[in-house]
Amino acid sequence: MLEARHLGKSYRLGEADVVALADVSLAFPRGSITTVVGRSGCGKTTLLRILAGLERPTSGALVRGEAGAGRTGVVFQEARLMPWLDALGNVAFGLRRRLPAALAEERSRAALDMVGLAAFADAMPGQLSGGMAQRVAIARALVTEPDLLLLDEPFAALDAFTRRAMQGELVAIWQAKRPTIVFVTHDVEEAVLLGQHVLELERGRVVGFEPVDLPFPRDPTDAAVNGHRRRILAKLTAPPPHAAGGPAVSSASPADKETAP
Ligand SMILES: Nc1ncnc2c1ncn2[C@@H]1O[C@H](COP(=O)(O)OP(=O)(O)OP(=O)(O)O)[C@@H](O)[C@H]1O
Ligand SMILES: [Mg+2]
Repeated sequence: MLEARHLGKSYRLGEADVVALADVSLAFPRGSITTVVGRSGCGKTTLLRILAGLERPTSGALVRGEAGAGRTGVVFQEARLMPWLDALGNVAFGLRRRLPAALAEERSRAALDMVGLAAFADAMPGQLSGGMAQRVAIARALVTEPDLLLLDEPFAALDAFTRRAMQGELVAIWQAKRPTIVFVTHDVEEAVLLGQHVLELERGRVVGFEPVDLPFPRDPTDAAVNGHRRRILAKLTAPPPHAAGGPAVSSASPADKETAP
């Protein structure tokens, strides 16, 4: 279990304080997939960086249960490959100290194969397209079989066909290994296709938390998927409920839900 309790994050920007996150409370149960959706600048990356332990919250706390103590894999918004290593070397990097070289290579080749890049094992990062580099980054995160997988718009640079295939792969991996996944996207349809719960952020605040109780793999043309998509879109494009007050839903944890009016 990983839990965000009243997380807040502000950045000093000249004379002003930019509030990137305000009072975000949410539990990420072990083995669940939560998607986080919202427009550019709403605080998605900030939340993910705090969950990854890369950033300290200004207020509130992150509680890591046993699930949070295991391996964490992160896919950043940009691929961030090591330019002096080829694709295989980038994927194998995190396995080096953990596995004998031959086994590390075998697993890394399998991970590259899974993202459709088996033929590019020897390619250097500069020889890959943006989407290919991003797929190497995804393989690098998956190869360690993390208990907690944090993904920041990992498929945003991919064409529609590759994106659909990668979404399918992610669901298959989740079904096989059951890592806890937090998946950030600005694409509402993607959030609904992949999330058991969809967290909706608007200007740093939680404005919705929608359970999506549909079996995987989900079909984008399914009426129920479309219903969720339309509801979330309507919420994210609606004017804020009370201009100076808090969001419609300030906390999405089950305990708070029961006390909600
Ligand atoms: N290091 C920083 N210094 C100052 N302000 C920051 C910093 N990082 C983020 N911010 C601000 O915090 C807010 C949230 O940024 P964040 O990167 O979390 O948004 P996002 O939802 O990931 O957006 P996008 O979809 O464009 O990636 C923005 O207003 C941004 O300007
Ligand atoms: Mg971002």
